[in-house]
Amino acid sequence: MATKKIVAFSSSPRKKSNSDILCDSIIAGAVGGGADVEKIKLNGLSIHPCIACEACQKSLTEPCIYDDDMTPLIDKIREADALIFASPIYFFTVNAQMKVMLDRLLAIFGEGKFDAMIGKKAAIALTYGEPEPLNSGVTCAHEMFQRSFGFLGMDFVGCAHAAGHEAGVVKQNTNALENAAKIGAKLCE
Ligand SMILES: Cc1cc2nc3c(=O)[nH]c(=O)nc-3n(C[C@H](O)[C@H](O)[C@H](O)COP(=O)(O)O)c2cc1C
Repeated sequence: MATKKIVAFSSSPRKKSNSDILCDSIIAGAVGGGADVEKIKLNGLSIHPCIACEACQKSLTEPCIYDDDMTPLIDKIREADALIFASPIYFFTVNAQMKVMLDRLLAIFGEGKFDAMIGKKAAIALTYGEPEPLNSGVTCAHEMFQRSFGFLGMDFVGCAHAAGHEAGVVKQNTNALENAAKIGAKLCE
């Protein structure tokens, strides 16, 4: 069987980021399952927000009017068998570094067709400061991913998540790390 290609997007701006630690555990599980994984840190990339000009929608291959750090990511996503999205929760959803990239994904589609992502597997990693998940906003981000993956015909294999505010604290959460690794292994099935 051909090696599965996975691209991981990790959006925290912090060193020893909790969501990035969970992302690495998902990656470790996927690598253990034989996948080839590339991780891309979104913080610091130059990605202009989508301005809804719809130029990218004219054809299936028409690029975005902004030729910035998103351009190579579109090609990597096209070629990937599976994707990982890791973000801290900011104001009850993903952070801006993740959201700006997700909006610019519009350029992978065109002509009103939303079939470029069909069949790709996806996993997410989310961390939040509020100890009670229902009060943290993680459910909002989870639902955003779940619904958009469903709309796009993707195969959502799981969400690794953990509470913790201090950078690096998730390293002590063995349950969350083990769950993340299991999710990573599922990306290879
Ligand atoms: C601007 C900002 C907004 C935040 N908003 C939330 C929130 O809505 N809910 C929550 O539980 N934690 C919130 N947090 C806390 C982070 O989600 C938490 O510290 C998380 O572990 C950070 O992950 P990271 O280490 O990967 O950056 C916020 C933090 C910042 C800096």
